[in-house]
Amino acid sequence: MENLVNRAQLQSYYEGKKVLLTGHTGFKGAWLMAWLEELGAHVTGYALDPEYEACLYNLLKSGLKGKSIIADIRNRERVHETVLSEQPDYIFHLAAQPLVRRSYLQPTETFDVNAVGTANLLEAVKSLEKPCVVVLITTDKVYENKEQDVLYAEDDVLGGYDPYSASKACTELIIQSFRRSFFPVSSWHVHHKSLVSARAGNVIGGGDFSEDRIVPDIVRALRKEEPVLVRNPESVRPWQHVLEPLGAYLLLGGALHQNPEGFNGAYNFGPYPDDHLTVRELVNQSISSWGKGEWIDGSTANQPHEAKLLKLDISRAMRELNWKPKLNAADAIAWTINWYKQEEDLAAGYTIAQIKRYMEL
Ligand SMILES: NC(=O)c1ccc[n+]([C@@H]2O[C@H](COP(=O)([O-])OP(=O)(O)OC[C@H]3O[C@@H](n4cnc5c(N)ncnc54)[C@H](O)[C@@H]3O)[C@@H](O)[C@H]2O)c1
Repeated sequence: MENLVNRAQLQSYYEGKKVLLTGHTGFKGAWLMAWLEELGAHVTGYALDPEYEACLYNLLKSGLKGKSIIADIRNRERVHETVLSEQPDYIFHLAAQPLVRRSYLQPTETFDVNAVGTANLLEAVKSLEKPCVVVLITTDKVYENKEQDVLYAEDDVLGGYDPYSASKACTELIIQSFRRSFFPVSSWHVHHKSLVSARAGNVIGGGDFSEDRIVPDIVRALRKEEPVLVRNPESVRPWQHVLEPLGAYLLLGGALHQNPEGFNGAYNFGPYPDDHLTVRELVNQSISSWGKGEWIDGSTANQPHEAKLLKLDISRAMRELNWKPKLNAADAIAWTINWYKQEEDLAAGYTIAQIKRYMEL
C-alpha cells in the first residue's frame, strides 16, 4: 500500500488553500509552516514571539512567505478577529505551553493557555461562515497513565498527573464538548466544520532548542563536550521524528476536508509498538550518531513526577487513514542528529531538504 504522506497527495489537499497555524514560532509549528508552504498553501501563523533567538523559526523566517501574527491565544477578541479576517480552509492548532516541568512551576498559566486558549479558538470558529477543518494538537500524555506495559488507544480513559498532561486532557474534553454542542458530525451540512484531535508521542527532530527536552539537552552537552545529564534513563517513550506526526496531521486534515463526515474524534500517532525506546537507548544512539560523547545519570530523588512508561496504540490511524510511520527510531535519531551537525547558515536549506526527502520515502 502506497504511503499517503507524499507530495502529490498532500498538494491535492493544500495547494492554494488558506491555513491558519497557531504556534508557528515553535519547534513543530515552524516545521509545519515550512512544509505547508512547500505544498503551496497560504499560511497565516498566530503565536507569541519565539522564546529563544536561536530557534528554527528564526532560521526559516526569511524564506517563509506567510503572514505572522504575534499575539496571545488567551486574547479572545484577537483570536476571533484573526479567524474571521483570515477565513481559513484549515486550522492547525499547536499553540501551547508544552513543557511538563514548566507546568509544575506555572500550573494556572498552563491550563489557561492550553485549555482556555483552545476554547477561544473554537468559539471563534463558531462565527466562521464557511467550511473549515480544524486539527487540534494534544498529546499522548492525555491518557490516565497506569504505568503498565499497555498500549493506550483513543477510547482509553483521559487523565493526566502533572498540570501539562491534565491541561491537554481538559483540552480534549473542550474539543468533545464543542463538537457535541456546536459541530456535530451528523449536521455537518448545516455548520460545515470538522474537528479532530491528534495525539502524538514524544517528538524529536532538528531545530528544537527548548529547555528540559532530551534532544536539545543532549546536543547542548555534546557541543560543549560535556557529559549529557540524563533524568529517568529507563523511561520508555514513543519517540518519533517530527515529520511523522506533522505528516499525519496533514493527512488527517486533508482526509477530513475530502470526507468531513468520515472522520472525527481523536487519532493517536506514534511509532510501531515494537519500536519504543528507553531514554538510555535514545541517548546512546544519539551519541553514536554524533560520533563521540558520554552521559551520566542525573536523576534525583525529589524531581517532579513524570510518567515512566508510555506506549501508544496507532491501529486506528493505520486502519482508517492508511497512515503508517516511515522512519523507525534509529532513522529518526540519525535524521535529528544530522540536522544539528549542519552549520547554522545551512540549517534552513537542510530543513526543507529533509521535508522533501521525507515525502519521497
Ligand atoms: N514536542 C513534543 O514532543 C510534543 C509531543 C506531543 C505534543 N506536542 C504538542 O505540539 C504542540 C507544539 O509543540 P512544540 O514542541 O512545537 O512547542 P514549542 O514550545 O516549541 O512551541 C509552542 C508554540 O506555542 C506558542 N504559544 C505558547 N504560548 C502561547 C500563547 N499564550 N499564545 C499564543 N501562542 C503561544 C509559542 O509561541 C510557540 O509558537 C503543542 O501543542 C504541544 O503540546 C508536542
